[in-house]
Amino acid sequence: MQEEIINTKNQAIAQITSAADAKELEEIRASYLGRNGKFTLLVKKIKDIPPEKRKEFGMTLNESKIAIENLLSNKKHELIKSLTEKREWFDLSIPGKKPNVGQLHPLTQVLADVKKVFNYLGYQIANGPEIETDYYNFEALNFPKDHPSRDTQMTFYLENGKILRTQTSAMQGRVMERMKPPFRVLAPGRNFRYEQVDASHGFEFWQVEGFIVDKDVHLTDLFGTIDYVLKELFGNEVKLRFATTNFPFVEPGVDTYMNCTICGGKGCSFCKNSGWSEIMPAGMIHPNVLKAAGIDVKKWNGFAFAIGLSRIVNLRYQIKDLRTLTTPDMRILSQF
Ligand code: DAH
Repeated sequence: MQEEIINTKNQAIAQITSAADAKELEEIRASYLGRNGKFTLLVKKIKDIPPEKRKEFGMTLNESKIAIENLLSNKKHELIKSLTEKREWFDLSIPGKKPNVGQLHPLTQVLADVKKVFNYLGYQIANGPEIETDYYNFEALNFPKDHPSRDTQMTFYLENGKILRTQTSAMQGRVMERMKPPFRVLAPGRNFRYEQVDASHGFEFWQVEGFIVDKDVHLTDLFGTIDYVLKELFGNEVKLRFATTNFPFVEPGVDTYMNCTICGGKGCSFCKNSGWSEIMPAGMIHPNVLKAAGIDVKKWNGFAFAIGLSRIVNLRYQIKDLRTLTTPDMRILSQF
C-alpha cells in the first residue's frame, strides 16, 4: 500500500512538471486531488488497512498530498510568470508615435493646380529635354547666332555642343514642328542659368511655358487668358498690369504684373517696393518662330507666355526667399 502512494506521488510529480499550461495543470489536480482523484481514492482505502499500519499509511498519504499541492501551486506561479514574461509589456499611457506621412513638394502642388486650370482651357501637356540644342533653345526662337539677346540667358554650355535649356520656350519649336494647328500646349519644366544665387535668383528654376496657335488670335485673348488663370490660382482680388517688354520670339512682348500678395501692395523686397510683382512674361508669337516650324503665317498666329512657377509658390505661401524651395529641410517643407 505504501508503495502505491509513492508511485501515485511520482506519477503526479512527473505530470505536473511537464504540464504546459494552466488548463492542463487543473486537469492534473482534479485527477489526483479531485472527488474521484487518485489520492482521494487512496484515502478511502484506509479502512482496508490493518489498524497497526493505518498511522504510517495516513502519514505518508498526507505528506504526499501536501507535497503535490505545493508542487501544483509552484507550477501554477511558474506558468503565470512565463506567460507575462513572454508578452511584451504595454504601457497604454505612452503617447503614440506619429507616422511620418509624406506630402507633395509645394512646387509640385502648385504645378498640379496650374495644369488643372489649363486643362480646363483645352491645353495639353508637353514634356521635353533639359539638355537642349542651341537650335531649339535659341535659333528656332528667333535668337540669331551672336545676337546680344542671347546674353540675357546666362547659358550653361556642355562639352558635347548642347546646352542646359535656359527657357521652356525651347518647347515651342519642338511642338510646332510636330503638331498641326490649331493647338494649345503647356510645357512645364526646369531651366538652368548661370546666375548668382540669392533670395530671388536660382541657377535652376521652374517655368510653365504655354502657347497656342490658332486662327485670328488677339492680344486681348492673351490678356483674358492670363486674367482668368491668375484669378483661378489666387482668387478674384487679383489685379493685373501689363507693360511692354522685349523677347525675340514675341511681338509685341508683355510683362504681367500682379498685385503683390506678400505685402498686400505696401511694398516689400519681393516686389522691389513697387507693390507689384512680375509674374508672367508673354506676347504674340513672332512670325519667324512659326515660319521656322513650317507653319503658314498667313493662316495661323498665336500667343505664348511663361509662368514662373516658384514665383507663384512664393506669392501663394508668402515665402520671400526662393532658396526655401530647394532646401531638403523637412522642417520647412512639411509646413506646406
Ligand atoms: N522664355 C522667357 C525667359 O525665360 C520667358 C518668356 C517670355 C516666355 C515671353 C514666353 C513669352 O513664352 O511669350 O526669359
